[in-house]
Amino acid sequence: MPGSAVRASTPCPIFAFTTDAARSDTSGQKGETRLGSRGVQIDWPTKSAAVKQANTLSRTTARDFETLSGNTLIQGDNLDALKELRRVGKQTFKLTLIDPPYNTGGGFVYDDDRSEAAWLSFMLPRLMVARDVMTDDGLMMIFMDDSGLPLLRMLAREVFGAANDCGILIWEKKRKPSFLQAQMGGVTDYIAVFAKNRKLAPPLTMGTGKAGKRYPFNNRGNPTGVLTFPADAVAFDLPDQRVTKQDMSTSGVPCKLLDAVEIKAGRNRGAFRMQGEWRYSQATLDTFVASGQTINISRLPFRPNLVKAIPSEKKISNLLSFRTNSDIPTNEDGLAEVTALFGGQAVFDYPKPIGLLKYLIEAATKPGDAILDFFAGTASAGHAVAKIGDGRTFTLVQDTAPFADTPTGRSAKKICEAEGLAPHLASLAAERLRRAGLSSERDFQIVTLR
Ligand SMILES: C[S@@+](CC[C@H](N)C(=O)[O-])C[C@H]1O[C@@H](n2cnc3c(N)ncnc32)[C@H](O)[C@@H]1O
Repeated sequence: MPGSAVRASTPCPIFAFTTDAARSDTSGQKGETRLGSRGVQIDWPTKSAAVKQANTLSRTTARDFETLSGNTLIQGDNLDALKELRRVGKQTFKLTLIDPPYNTGGGFVYDDDRSEAAWLSFMLPRLMVARDVMTDDGLMMIFMDDSGLPLLRMLAREVFGAANDCGILIWEKKRKPSFLQAQMGGVTDYIAVFAKNRKLAPPLTMGTGKAGKRYPFNNRGNPTGVLTFPADAVAFDLPDQRVTKQDMSTSGVPCKLLDAVEIKAGRNRGAFRMQGEWRYSQATLDTFVASGQTINISRLPFRPNLVKAIPSEKKISNLLSFRTNSDIPTNEDGLAEVTALFGGQAVFDYPKPIGLLKYLIEAATKPGDAILDFFAGTASAGHAVAKIGDGRTFTLVQDTAPFADTPTGRSAKKICEAEGLAPHLASLAAERLRRAGLSSERDFQIVTLR
């Protein structure tokens, strides 16, 4: 079983998880945060049991897993689904992008006895198995709100190792704050980024630019020589003009223009000579010209430069905001997208906007890569992968728990009934993909865990 061994637990220095082995008063699942002599500690009595859960086989098997390929929506519990993916060992994922439930939204509803410890025990085996099905250079991105972020980050550091914590992306999720919080209006959510192996993981990049690296011709201390710049060989950032022959030396840079230069539309009409201490020989200059490379003079006095165009991928910044990037939508946009697909009915509370997921997926993957979301909700990640295309594939997992008794849950249930679909989010997720133009015969397969 590839990579299924449990990593040694590596608590980060400020926080420590106390487990049943470390504590004598293992009082069930109730977790409690307290200040100990070594810093904040979180009681997590069921940790070892949660670790064991990651290393058993799934409770259920689906024969379809043996023939998995391409876009897939798995309907069922994600821990079983992840273990099945690991068991068949056919697919590994370059990007795992998840939006797990926490205090609000989604399916993990706390009752009074549910606590930090219970959430940790729910998440730990899932992250462990998900790590096993990542490519060695793969990344995991985990959405989280500000209250869940500290605990999530500690947990993910346990699973991936603190050295593989790549940082936190900040997403401006709202245009206007809602002032539900007593002290401030929250407008951001977070995406924790972890690598299976940070040394192998590629940078997150968006778009390519042609960065021009400039190499000056003048090189103080070289023997003085004369270079002839052929007609039309130089690109000038100067307006049309005639520049008379003159001494163009400045302190430390001896340099003379030996012929007048006629600049027309940013080029030199005739050849001209310059005397100076040059980095390049005449032969080298001639090969630059013959191979169409750019020689640039941007100002007076003339200082010629070779400009090498180097295609460069631009690393993304950790701030994802509509203010600076119109490709970054908000929660409102995500809701509008899904609501529009379902005839104006809101069927889910916080579906992630496709544009944001597209941005993250494009930054972290290349054409042909496989992407996993095992808290799929309305299949927004699948929709985003399909929109990007380029041979990327999605694998989604969504459980078949009944809809919550909320306004959106009731609308979703009605739609499922009207369409003759099973009344749960996993079938609504499939319907969303169909309404987004994907055929469940041709473009994605549905695998149901029994
Ligand atoms: C926060 S929502 C994800 C929303 C999603 N990103 C979207 O844009 O629609 C979390 C989802 O995980 C699902 N979920 C919770 N526990 C699960 C489990 N054990 N297995 C599979 N899905 C689960 C919930 O039903 C919920 O739809």
